[in-house]
Amino acid sequence: MSSSRLRRVGLLTAGGDCPGLNAVIRAFVRTAVAHYDWEVVGILDGFEGLCIPDGTRTLTESDVNGILTLGGTILGTSNRGNPFAFRTMVDGEEKIVDRSPEVVERLRNLDIGGLVVIGGDGSMRIGMRFQNLGVPVVGVPKTIDNDLAATDVTFGFDTAVATATDAIDRLRSTAEAHHRVMIVEVMGRNAGWIALEAGLAGGGNVILIPEIPFRLERVARAIEERSRRGRSYSIVVVAEGAHPVGGQPIAQRIGPDGFPRLGGVGVWLADELGQRVKHEVRATVLGHTQRGGSPTPFDRVLATRLGCAAAWLVGQGDWGKMVAARGSEIVPVPLEDAVRTPKLVPPQGDRVQTARYIGVSFGD
Ligand code: F6P
Repeated sequence: MSSSRLRRVGLLTAGGDCPGLNAVIRAFVRTAVAHYDWEVVGILDGFEGLCIPDGTRTLTESDVNGILTLGGTILGTSNRGNPFAFRTMVDGEEKIVDRSPEVVERLRNLDIGGLVVIGGDGSMRIGMRFQNLGVPVVGVPKTIDNDLAATDVTFGFDTAVATATDAIDRLRSTAEAHHRVMIVEVMGRNAGWIALEAGLAGGGNVILIPEIPFRLERVARAIEERSRRGRSYSIVVVAEGAHPVGGQPIAQRIGPDGFPRLGGVGVWLADELGQRVKHEVRATVLGHTQRGGSPTPFDRVLATRLGCAAAWLVGQGDWGKMVAARGSEIVPVPLEDAVRTPKLVPPQGDRVQTARYIGVSFGD
């Protein structure tokens, strides 16, 4: 539909939360109110809000006052509510149902002429499918994992790295005091960006990432060599998706979105290394602490720029695009580009090479 006839725009946050979501919501609503005369309709709990009655609320300027610094999302989020594969109880049995025609109808009834989807690759895929069904969509990329294609960086990542680095700093002093090997398990399902950046920032001695499968003997050797050089402690930073050569990531369970929930490699590693090195080995799992808290200044600014740019795209009727950070600019890119291939850590890239030069082991 043409932007001149646009009266109401839907806005939702979907998938795992990350610091900066509220900053995007605030920037979008403020730009919409100050520069366009749309009403912004907040959709609650991700796409789920479009599949249930009363799943929306109008967002005014006063609703977004004071939320810039807040973690989480005032709209709520969910990774359960894919309308194209919605879990529904039918005759007492759980069935996967395509609720998308109903959602398209509901958007029409609500007079919502376009949808802004703040999400990761899964949400961008859902957004693309709605775009193909004739619902105009603009995407805003988010994930602490920083693995979304077509954008240099996603908001939430910088905050997660800051949280992980702070944890490593804290663990270093106790590791040194007790002459221990401290393993820090960070998030990162397919991509090791958090482990790599926090490992570099926190001076980790071993960094294990999904992109570089490791060998236990090599990890143990790196720790023992440090010990021979008089270093009585070591810090190992491991991404939850890291795995030994020929092995698989350790999964806890299958999540509501059908993807495995990883976790446990840190404790497993502590056990295995404990049998191979002379120091005591302990593991700390940072888990969802990396997704919480107030966004860093970098993430607040990036999220604000993206929220504002999303409103410009909507204003221009430039649908089917995602706003992306490229160099020093925010640019529109086709939604297809965003979901193509995840952005993984290049094993030959400068960060990995820098780490190797300064003596970090990747266990390979
Ligand atoms: O994609 C972001 C992320 O935080 C991953 O690093 C992690 O594996 C996953 O989400 C956890 O998801 P959930 O909170 O649904 O268990």
